Amino acid sequence: MAGEEISYSEAIMAATDSLYRFPLIKIKGIPLMCHIADNWNSVWAFRPDPLDLLIATYPKAGTTWVQEIVDLLLHNGDAEVARRAPTHHRIPFLEIHSPPPIPSGLSFIEKMDPPRVIKTHLPFQLVPEGFWENKCKVIYVARNAKDSVVSYFHFDQMNQTQPEPGPWDGYLHKFMNGELPWGSWYDHVKRYWLEREKRNILYLFYEDLKENPHREVKRIMQYLDLSLSDDVISHIVRLTSFNTMKENPMANYSCIPDQIFDRSISNFMRKGLVGDWTNHFSPAQNQLFDEDYKKQMKDVNIPFRTNI
Ligand code: A3P
Repeated sequence: MAGEEISYSEAIMAATDSLYRFPLIKIKGIPLMCHIADNWNSVWAFRPDPLDLLIATYPKAGTTWVQEIVDLLLHNGDAEVARRAPTHHRIPFLEIHSPPPIPSGLSFIEKMDPPRVIKTHLPFQLVPEGFWENKCKVIYVARNAKDSVVSYFHFDQMNQTQPEPGPWDGYLHKFMNGELPWGSWYDHVKRYWLEREKRNILYLFYEDLKENPHREVKRIMQYLDLSLSDDVISHIVRLTSFNTMKENPMANYSCIPDQIFDRSISNFMRKGLVGDWTNHFSPAQNQLFDEDYKKQMKDVNIPFRTNI
């Protein structure tokens, strides 16, 4: 009905005919899904508030995990407050844009009062300049390349709006060539790493979060200038464990209809492990990947660890 707000799921159902596997269009050399590219000027013009916080990642690095941790830290570990709405309503996705009437990330952001927490997968050079001019805090999460590509492969199979992933071997080559949505993993992790000190970026690793979530949640707390007790930190660690988040409808994307996230293929909360790549890479693929990795990463030494 005119003027009446419809729910997010209703909006998705209303847009079903215009939802398909979106092709990629390059913006400044970075492949983005066409709906994001079509709306690019509004994203680039976005002016954040100096108190806004940005959570930036290459896809599948543990974004949702860190979003949940941050939201709980900002609300003193109150699980009820963190369950007020699904992840992407509480912490909007800056560049995401779908066919109307599905609300864009910017439309969610504009309805919120600063300070807001905002998610992005944009590489450093595509982050709207206001974030740097306003010296906004930025949390970057990196995950080792092999688990990232495996997780992305499963996600692209189940998410019916991402480009068709095709067979695993070809997908692996697309990842190495920077041809997947949001571009090269290698350039993404390197550029934020090189900028981290100058821009005061908190650079986290998925593997560190897995190894010692208490220590890492505390680091995030300190970066946010918060002071919570060890008991509250432990409580947040429990609430953001893989198994707890998997069962939490406000943190597991179960509100996205099956037409988009086809759960007969994979869950969004899939395995949450370090080292699942060993179940996917053949010895030949592993050798090729390692050789290419050395070349692509030779100029920057980022301490990724996979032996956890
Ligand atoms: P897997 O596909 O390897 O299971 P993103 O949120 O950036 O899209 O990342 C999704 C990946 O993070 C998925 O990886 C998902 O299972 C994992 N993940 C989400 N929440 C997690 C948690 N609390 N603990 C560990 N892994 C988590």
